[in-house]
Amino acid sequence: MRHLKKTLLVFMTSTTMLLTACNASFFEAKNKEEVEEAANMQEAEVEEEKTEAEQEYALTAEMLNIIETEDGVNYIQNPENIQVLVNKDHSLPIGYRPADLVIPDVKFSFEEKHEKKLMRKEAAEALKLMFNAALEEGVEIVAVSGFRSFERQQQVYTASVETSGAEHAQQAVAEPGKSEHQTGLTMDVSSIENSYKLDQNFGEVEAGKWLADHCSEYGFIIRYPEGKENITGYMYEPWHIRYVGEDVAKDIYSLGLSFEEYVQLVEE
Ligand code: DAL
Ligand code: ZN
Repeated sequence: MRHLKKTLLVFMTSTTMLLTACNASFFEAKNKEEVEEAANMQEAEVEEEKTEAEQEYALTAEMLNIIETEDGVNYIQNPENIQVLVNKDHSLPIGYRPADLVIPDVKFSFEEKHEKKLMRKEAAEALKLMFNAALEEGVEIVAVSGFRSFERQQQVYTASVETSGAEHAQQAVAEPGKSEHQTGLTMDVSSIENSYKLDQNFGEVEAGKWLADHCSEYGFIIRYPEGKENITGYMYEPWHIRYVGEDVAKDIYSLGLSFEEYVQLVEE
């Protein structure tokens, strides 16, 4: 009897041990499953985030500046890039002149033939589309000043220093090689309501307001926005539009960023 009890006890103990062991491995397996599931979910989230980030910006790595630094100056090696970023820190190669300059088929504030009527073909076509769209809504915008060679930018800069002093010139006019006007992707525009002047009042008149609201739809940005002076390095210029292509322009407009901020975001 005692033997039977002992056997029963041994049987019960081993069964309990066996069950406990089974339970442990069951939980282990369950845990493993959960860990694997969690890891898979995390992986999927990272993938999703990556895809979101990739889709978030129209500007991609191949549209960024390629820079070579010489004597402390950052020279852009791909100046023909439509999304080229030209500013006080990024200079165009001396003597750079785009190969596809044309006169946009739009109204100008002056009649005579002049180099400043020029723009790169793609930008010129977008300018025409935009001016026509504005006209259809009863708003007339006119072109005032487009392409400037390195030499002409030198003249404009020197004239500004002579008239307004170096400090003011620094905020208003780019030094030669550092102006977007040399890319052929920029046009200064105005309207009769603003007496064809390039001044901050243009942002207050109908054409200036229309431009700010709609230029991104045609691939342009207000390159020197109000409130971003410390980032762009220039005062607010509601008349200076820069062609960057429709997708990038729409991105910049909807994010409310300057071009510098947008490029930095993409680079990060
Ligand atoms: N006014 C702009 C900054 C230029 O001179 O290019
Ligand atoms: Zn300008």
